[in-house]
Amino acid sequence: MGKTWDIEKFKQTARKAAAEGIVLLKNDGNVLPLEKGTKVSVFGRSQMNYYKSGTGSGGMVNVDYVIGIYEALEASKDVVVNKKVREAYESFVKENPFDIGTGWAVEPWFQKEMPLDDALVKEASEESDVAVFIIGRTAGEDKDNKNEQGSFLLTDEEVAALKKVRKSFDRTIVLLNVGNIIDMKWVKEIDPSAVLYVWQGGQEGGNAVLDVLTGVVNPSGKLADTIAKDIEDYSSTENFGSEKKNIQSEDIYIGYRYFETFDKDSVLYPFGYGLSYTSFDVETLSFNYDQNSVFVEVKVTNTGARSGKEVVQVYVKAPQGKLGKPERVLCSFDKTDLLDPGMCQELKFEIPKYWLASYDDSGVTGHKSAYVLEKGEYEFFAGIDVRSAESVGRFTLDELEVVMQCEEAYAPVQDFKRLRPALESGKLVKIYEDVPTRILDPNKKREERLPKALPYTGDKGFKLKDVEDKKVSLDEFIAQLSDKDLCTIARGEGMCSPKVTAGIAGAYGGLSESLKNFGIPAGGCSDGPSGIRMDCGTHAFSLPNGTCLACTFDEEINKELFKWEGLDLRRHRIDALLGPGMNIHRSPLNGRNFEYFSEDPFLTGKLVKAQLQGLHTYDVTGVIKHFAGNTQEFKRHTVNNIVSERALREIYLKGFEIAVREGGARAIMSTYGPVNGIWTASSYDLLTTILRKEWGFDGIVMTDWWAMGNDEAGAPGDYANVASQVRAQNDLNMVNADAEKNSGHDNLDSALLEGKLTRAELARGAANILRFLLKTPAYKHMLGIESELDKELKDAVSEEDANLQDMIKVKMNEDVTQLDPSDFKVEKGSTTTFVLTAPKKCLMELELVLKADNQPDVAQLPVSVFQDKQLVKSFTLTGMDKEYKTVKIDLIPAFMSNFYLKFYFAQGGLKIKSAKVTVTKDIEAEFKREITELA
Ligand code: BGC
Repeated sequence: MGKTWDIEKFKQTARKAAAEGIVLLKNDGNVLPLEKGTKVSVFGRSQMNYYKSGTGSGGMVNVDYVIGIYEALEASKDVVVNKKVREAYESFVKENPFDIGTGWAVEPWFQKEMPLDDALVKEASEESDVAVFIIGRTAGEDKDNKNEQGSFLLTDEEVAALKKVRKSFDRTIVLLNVGNIIDMKWVKEIDPSAVLYVWQGGQEGGNAVLDVLTGVVNPSGKLADTIAKDIEDYSSTENFGSEKKNIQSEDIYIGYRYFETFDKDSVLYPFGYGLSYTSFDVETLSFNYDQNSVFVEVKVTNTGARSGKEVVQVYVKAPQGKLGKPERVLCSFDKTDLLDPGMCQELKFEIPKYWLASYDDSGVTGHKSAYVLEKGEYEFFAGIDVRSAESVGRFTLDELEVVMQCEEAYAPVQDFKRLRPALESGKLVKIYEDVPTRILDPNKKREERLPKALPYTGDKGFKLKDVEDKKVSLDEFIAQLSDKDLCTIARGEGMCSPKVTAGIAGAYGGLSESLKNFGIPAGGCSDGPSGIRMDCGTHAFSLPNGTCLACTFDEEINKELFKWEGLDLRRHRIDALLGPGMNIHRSPLNGRNFEYFSEDPFLTGKLVKAQLQGLHTYDVTGVIKHFAGNTQEFKRHTVNNIVSERALREIYLKGFEIAVREGGARAIMSTYGPVNGIWTASSYDLLTTILRKEWGFDGIVMTDWWAMGNDEAGAPGDYANVASQVRAQNDLNMVNADAEKNSGHDNLDSALLEGKLTRAELARGAANILRFLLKTPAYKHMLGIESELDKELKDAVSEEDANLQDMIKVKMNEDVTQLDPSDFKVEKGSTTTFVLTAPKKCLMELELVLKADNQPDVAQLPVSVFQDKQLVKSFTLTGMDKEYKTVKIDLIPAFMSNFYLKFYFAQGGLKIKSAKVTVTKDIEAEFKREITELA
């Protein structure tokens, strides 16, 4: 049998993907690619700390190594790096070490820049041919970017250093190791020879940069976001970052949709832009259309002197009609193969009419809640960016066509005005119109459409396998589950549940003995999106970030990369990755943009589709997130996004729609916060009317980790209101310490008793979960099925990682929990890890009773105790400790239910008599969760 897992091939694919996402913005005098033997001085403090990813859950992958940009250049035989310059930075960081901040979401956006000494720069410019200047930025979960120096803007120190380098060197190349676009005004002022967005490229990122700099890879990345002159130029800026509500008055006019329609002059680099080391000619071969689709054929010829790839983008300009339309909307794209000079390739685009349609949320066209093609001319443009794309053909519709009739869903309840174009003296100008508000009450819809379920039958002996074998229907199987079982299965557990792979974010499904007895497995899910996060320290592979992958404009490479990611998940026995993250880059300031893709939903959706297809190759999947409208991190649990139904459907939901309809998405994560007054996790309209009824989704929806719900628009959000989530078909509430015990004190049982939630609604959620589980590797493993691939992948886990997974699982008691002394490995250099499940939030103490075991008096016998990744205590016994000694250690409070205790014995020679963990104080009450009122 051939080898499926091949880490070298995974590395090559990641390196290739990261290189294909690099966007070359400027290359004066063809300074790039660098010739063999070029002498390079690398400037910029970020050479000392390559950002492989942004911060927060999306980037916490423990890796074997990271190749930064400097490391890649230094290791290359094709360039010669200037060691003196490097040494200067090395001494600087000794004095100015990397600042990680303290705690969650506090890592600074940038690290202090090194002021440059004139003599150093001068000498370097005499010795080296070119200067490479690296600028780094990070941001992430719970930490937006800001229009401040060090975040969106360069710092004065960076500008000063850049200017100095630029002055001394004829050739200066600036590399932006950033999560998403930053302010670019400085390019004009400083005028470096070349500028490249190299993004955060994962653990192989530095190699990818090297490949592009040296011309091994000819850049073909294209901007997935418009770069405007100023942050104020973006239509979202006015309503971004508020604490209570974001009124999205720019409506569908975000990114290039806004700039191409209203403000072309403010664009520095248009959407889809990116240079190559060669040049291409795009010629239209044909333009046709029929009842259903538009067909465009183009011929791309490499007219330059180097091999390269080009991306062709097709945009539509729909008639303004009654709804008003953007001047350009991306409706197809494709990338050529690698074309040698003089070679050409024909690209064919088939564009279903659905992609040309607009959503009428007011009824102004006579067709409320429908996707329509208004009458008039539809013109198509093809080219290599939104601005330069040229007309390739047009057709005219004499009558309006309804492409799809939908149902009003998730419309705003608050009056506000939205932007739209109006034609004035032949020019499109900005006007504002009233946004249509909600007519159909989602609660009424829900009540009228309550599901039915078979009555409770009690245990009839059917196992889940009998459903697979078609001996019993899923409904009959579920009829055996008690109300308690149904409530339990609606609750996921985490973080670091001992029921699944150690260190991952969540578990779901067969989490109680009773559920397990029905043959229901426990499925696992881990963060994502840029690789697997395992908090116990297990290593995985880290991928380029979402923005970088978006800029590849390449479905193939995304699919290929996520095939490997699928294998990594299988290797670690995880069923789902919490990602891809696919929210729209509404503003360049959103901290999580690095995880997301683009300002354009079509590009986002198509690439997510490809990633899901890759994962599905190996029967694992991605939990696409955050559904929907997570446009900022600030106050993300509560800030109310007020947005029209049209903008929701055309912008914020569209990518998800593609992922569901075309990518076969099986799992979705709702957001923390509310949209139009209703927390997304409890929005019947979002999760049932649109997602399931309209798009045909039949997988699972899970909440984000500890998410609220509410009963109606404007009602306060409440962590305990899980009934509202289940009613909406948010099947899993993530995460609880103990699903069976209802450790989160949710209202499922009480709502059921009071008739506010029906057993049939719970049964429907259970059906969604079970249907999902039947497709997972966890299900097969529970049946004892180990495929050849499983066996191969087991061998592909390092011994160290396998040991980390091999933990002793201990469910703690309310008061004192004994650890079995015989479980401890005390030989020299050995570790023993326990995963403990605390019964509640509490303070704890560890007590060890141990002695030296027949050791000479002078023996030193050190013991280190780690809790999670932190050292809590090291102590040393000596050979003279011949009698048992008691060592007491205060542990870190258990805020989350699961934690690890790792014991490391540096020398042999100790004997443990007893070990126990005592709960010293219940601190549950101090963490009463707040109920959040909407503004
Ligand atoms: C994030 C999710 C993540 C989850 C689990 C949340 O805070 O918003 O994206 O998957 O935590 O780590």
